[in-house]
Amino acid sequence: MKIAIGCDHIVTDIKIKAAEFLKNQGHEVIDVGTYDFIRTHYPIFGRKVAKAVVTGQADLGVCICGTGIGINNSAVKVKGIRGACVADVQTAVAAKENLNANVIGCGGRVLGVGTIEYILEAFLKAEYKPTPEKEALIAKIDAMVPENDCIENDALFDEFEQKWAEGYYHD
Ligand code: RB5
Repeated sequence: MKIAIGCDHIVTDIKIKAAEFLKNQGHEVIDVGTYDFIRTHYPIFGRKVAKAVVTGQADLGVCICGTGIGINNSAVKVKGIRGACVADVQTAVAAKENLNANVIGCGGRVLGVGTIEYILEAFLKAEYKPTPEKEALIAKIDAMVPENDCIENDALFDEFEQKWAEGYYHD
């Protein structure tokens, strides 16, 4: 399976370990960044993971930030993404079986790499079990997201990043 994985600077080390785990399980991993610990912003990488999935470059996506919430919340703004931010194996399996989730989000700081590995393994092994009811629900959720240009517009965060670089924002 081809898996896109992304993170913010808070959890780059955890992301690298999770990517290694996936490779050792036989998956092809597309690491969309970030690649170091320099202050960055999770929406950039949530969008990159989402783009890889909705364009078919990857089958599934993995989003990791401190809590998993920010990056996953960014990914689900992209039409076609069914994201689940999870902290346990049972929820990860339910996300695939019921929602046909194509992006999974985890909190690297909250969970650590050990729990994330269990979650990823369970998520990848689980299979969507479609029913007419589930299909209708998924279609309804997807209809809530308008067609948008956030996938085409790679400059979406340029101004934001520029202002950070100039010291306009502060932690
Ligand atoms: C740091 O930017 C932190 O807010 C982020 O990693 C994540 O926890 C947000 O949900």
